[in-house]
Order: sequence, then C-alpha cells, then structure tokens
Amino acid sequence: MHPTLLHSVAPPHPAETVHDVDLALEYPRVRDATAILRAPLTAEDCAIQSMPDASPVKWHLAHTSWFFETFVLEARLPGYRTFHPQFRVLFNSYYNAVGDKHPRPERGLLSRPSLDEVFAYRRHVDLGMQALIESGALRDTAVRALVELGLHHEQQHQELILTDVKHMLSRNPLAPAYHRRASLHPTRARSSPDWLGFAGGMTRIGHRGEAFCFDNELPRHRVFLEPFELAASLVTAGEYAEFIEDGGYLRPELWLSEGWETARAARWSSPLYWERTDGARAIFKLSGFDALDTAEPVCHVSYYEADAYARWAGARLPTEAEWEHAVGEKLPAGNFLESGALHPTADTAVEDGLRQCFGDAWEWTSSAYAPYPGYRPAAGAIGEYNGKFMCNQYVLRGGSCATPRSHIRASYRNFFPAAARWQFSGIRLARDA
Ligand SMILES: [Fe+2]
Repeated sequence: MHPTLLHSVAPPHPAETVHDVDLALEYPRVRDATAILRAPLTAEDCAIQSMPDASPVKWHLAHTSWFFETFVLEARLPGYRTFHPQFRVLFNSYYNAVGDKHPRPERGLLSRPSLDEVFAYRRHVDLGMQALIESGALRDTAVRALVELGLHHEQQHQELILTDVKHMLSRNPLAPAYHRRASLHPTRARSSPDWLGFAGGMTRIGHRGEAFCFDNELPRHRVFLEPFELAASLVTAGEYAEFIEDGGYLRPELWLSEGWETARAARWSSPLYWERTDGARAIFKLSGFDALDTAEPVCHVSYYEADAYARWAGARLPTEAEWEHAVGEKLPAGNFLESGALHPTADTAVEDGLRQCFGDAWEWTSSAYAPYPGYRPAAGAIGEYNGKFMCNQYVLRGGSCATPRSHIRASYRNFFPAAARWQFSGIRLARDA
C-alpha cells in the first residue's frame, strides 16, 4: 500500500490531532451498524436487485465481509480458513487483480447463498478479525491501514444499502416503508437564495492531517479561484418545482446536449421518486409516500438536472475547489444517517454563513472526477479502489442523510456518472462574483 493512502504531507490539522481511532472498538461498531440496517427488511427484500446499478442487501452484507477476508485475513492472518472458495468470485465487486467477478447485473439472481449463510459468513469473518486484532497485528501500520480502509468501505456500503433499498421498495406498487416516521408539516419556504461571497485567490484543497482519507483526496495542492458566490443553503423542492412549472424539462436551451437526450429518452419530468396524485405532488421516501415538503432540499436529481436547474436560475454549479474552499475548516455536522430521518430536511438554521454543507444531500459539482496533481493510487489490487474510475464521472461533496457522520469530511470526493439519480444527490448554486 502506498503511504499516501493514509497520510498527507501537510502538517496535522489542529482539529484532527485528536483523531486516534481505536480500531479494535471501531470494527464491531461499524459491522454492527451494517447489520442493524438489515433489521427492518425481510429475507425476500434482501435478495432483490431492482436495477443493474443497485445491489441486493444480501450482496452488500457479503461483499463487505469479502473485503476483510480478501485484503486482510487471507493476507495477514496465518492459518485463516477461507469461508467458501467460490465467494471469492461471487462477492468480488470490481477488483480485476483479485480474479473473476460475478456479473454485476446478475447479483439479484443469487438465491443462494441464503441470507442465513451470508450472516454465517459475516460471523466467520468477524471471528477472524477478532483473532487478528487480539494477535496485535494492528501495530503493523500496513495492517492497520487495511482495516481502517475496510471500515470506511463498509460505511460506503451502508449508504448504498439505504439508496438501493429505497429504489427497490419504490418499484413495489404497495410502496412499503423501510422505517416509520411521522410526516413533517411543510416548514418555512424561502423565496430566493442568500448568497455568500468569496474573494478567491490562491488556496489549497485536498486532505490534510493524520486522520483517514481515501487516496483520491490526496495530495493537498494549490488551486487558484476567481471571486465567486455560493448559495447559503441547498435548492429546495419548492424552488425546483418552479423550474418544472416553468417548463424546465421542456426547454432544450437549458440542458446539456447529453442531458437533454437522456431526459427525453427516460421521460424525466421531475426528480426520481416524485409523483403527482390528485393534482398534488407526493414523494416516495424510505418512510413511504408523503406530501412533498416544498422547504426540504430537492434530491435524487442527476447532474444533468442539477446543471439545467442552475442555468434556469441564472447560476451554475460550484466547482469542487470552490466548495471545499468555502467549507474551509468546518467540521461535519448536519442531518446524517444517525439522525434517523433518512431524508433531507428543511434548512431551519438561523445562523449566517454556509448551511447544509454536510448531510442532507450530496452536492453535485461541475468538476470532473479526475486525479489531483501528483495523485498516486495504492500499489496492488487495492489501488483499484478509486483511481480506475476517474473517467466520465462528476464529483459530489458533503455527504447525505444516508451517510454515517464519521465517514464524511470536507475533502471527501464522492463520484457518480452524470445520469445517476438514485443517490441522495441535490443542488447548491454558485455564480461568478
Ligand atoms: Fe465495495
């Protein structure tokens, strides 16, 4: 593993010097958090794959265990017994250096192993990890780095479990709810965004400090920004509804060519999960169908829709450098997975400044997902984690209501293709000053 996977060359960030995660405690906490997400689901729920981009919950539960088995236990625990030799292929996501993979669109065809067998696999891996931890292997920096990567990988899949379950349940005419939650009454609606000005100039982006980060957040480097403005909070569902009412989906001048073609072919006329019932707008959430709260942030929009909305609003999307510069040294706080809402909530903050920058909805940026200057992926199979996806995708920032709080940071770079809508992806506007 390349050392830059975990450490930047910059001196420790003052706010992060306290970071010294006890992995022996963090391992069971993160693994249990994944199992808890399964609790509201039936075994049948866990087996379904609703589209090629999504995976069955059962597959997520097995694949996250496969990661520890393949990259930690088989390599680092002497005498470790592989749970099932064919799982190496079944639950390999995309690591070509590891070997063959079961085709992604066919993950929903795996009625076997059963859910019980997958949980037995998880227990087997957990016992192996317990033995590894008790052996003192975490004193080895390389082992520690792999285990920490495995835990952050597992947290990424926790969010994917929720977004994939939401898509799966939305395709059922019974519209089952994943969890119960009282409907909120519409909260305050804003008529226009507050704008915050930034002088720009030379700045730095990328991870700093000793805490964990993915290799794609490194190295920290200089960027020059022209003066710009950012909207203080996320675009609301009510504001997005105005775009729709103004013919937003029918006006080609607002759209990128590829976005227009994609929207026409897929017959998009609103964000994913929006419906019209008896003339009123409704929205499917993990808590079931509900009236649309116009004050909540719009989400489940593609890059194309975010871009078209911004053009309609006389603005643009921020670059990832503008976003990270504006967020500065803010520590993650907001509506994350732990809040239990599992849906973006209205901006009710009274303080001035940048709001909703963490949690609620990932924010599309206009930045192509590309390597930072001097980027080097880790050596070996683990180097396939991020680097090989740096093509035809856009960067999203800030995390969502399905992101575990301890998983996100200002330098975090999520990435999805421009047409992706099933993630909790929303919009913050920017404009030139
Ligand atoms: Fe994965």
